[in-house]
Amino acid sequence: MKKQIEYFREKLGDDYFDRMLKNSSFEKRIGQDYLISFIQDIVNFHKENNSNAYKKITFLEFGCGAGWRTAEIKDKFNFNCYGVDPSKKAISHAKKNYPNVNFSTGSVTKVSSKLYGKIDIVFFGFCLFLVDQIDLFEVASITNKLLKPNGHIILMDFDTKNNYKKQFYKTNLFSHKMNFSSLFLWHPFYSICKFTSFTHKSNNITNDQDEKIGMYLINKYVRG
Ligand SMILES: C[S@@+](CC[C@H](N)C(=O)[O-])C[C@H]1O[C@@H](n2cnc3c(N)ncnc32)[C@H](O)[C@@H]1O
Repeated sequence: MKKQIEYFREKLGDDYFDRMLKNSSFEKRIGQDYLISFIQDIVNFHKENNSNAYKKITFLEFGCGAGWRTAEIKDKFNFNCYGVDPSKKAISHAKKNYPNVNFSTGSVTKVSSKLYGKIDIVFFGFCLFLVDQIDLFEVASITNKLLKPNGHIILMDFDTKNNYKKQFYKTNLFSHKMNFSSLFLWHPFYSICKFTSFTHKSNNITNDQDEKIGMYLINKYVRG
């Protein structure tokens, strides 16, 4: 059976980009303040530990779409930034508009192995809900290969107590909703540093499972 990523690579990623462009939605900043604050925590952590690592942090966003989020991180922190998305149109837009960020087409299961062991922060920018659940083993494995021994994961996605799926935006594909932090937190290398919850509409509390979004800051710590 054809995988969801193939549909995204062929057409759906571009369709999503076109929709965003048409609605001028690139200014939407869901969770952006939390992302900035989580990243500031990582920088502070390095400073408090008298490490100069914060001066040369490498950041990678999966599901970067048109690239505005990665570009804002570049502007604010001057990290070495990478953005990856299956949409050719979104990546071409991102490359043109933000030339100081390294953008490339790819996916959570297809990223250059040249980046293995080089990334300090892997950020999942609202894309794991679009990934076939069978691919989640590979996502965890590739993320672990990308991250340095003391790296961090920031995960922003739907965050539901139960695992279920819904039709994705008038297509024959699915949005998979679950708690994606469990991909990493079962492993002894990974533990949670911070968590916050919000919705697409506001920072308020909701009882609606469909609306819950979680942002997790997870650290990797490889004991000798
Ligand atoms: C909801 S959008 C989020 C875009 C952007 N991060 C933002 O917040 O504006 C989901 C993005 O994930 C991308 N995507 C879909 N499947 C993916 C996969 N397997 N790996 C990485 N990105 C994927 C889509 O092309 C789309 O740009």
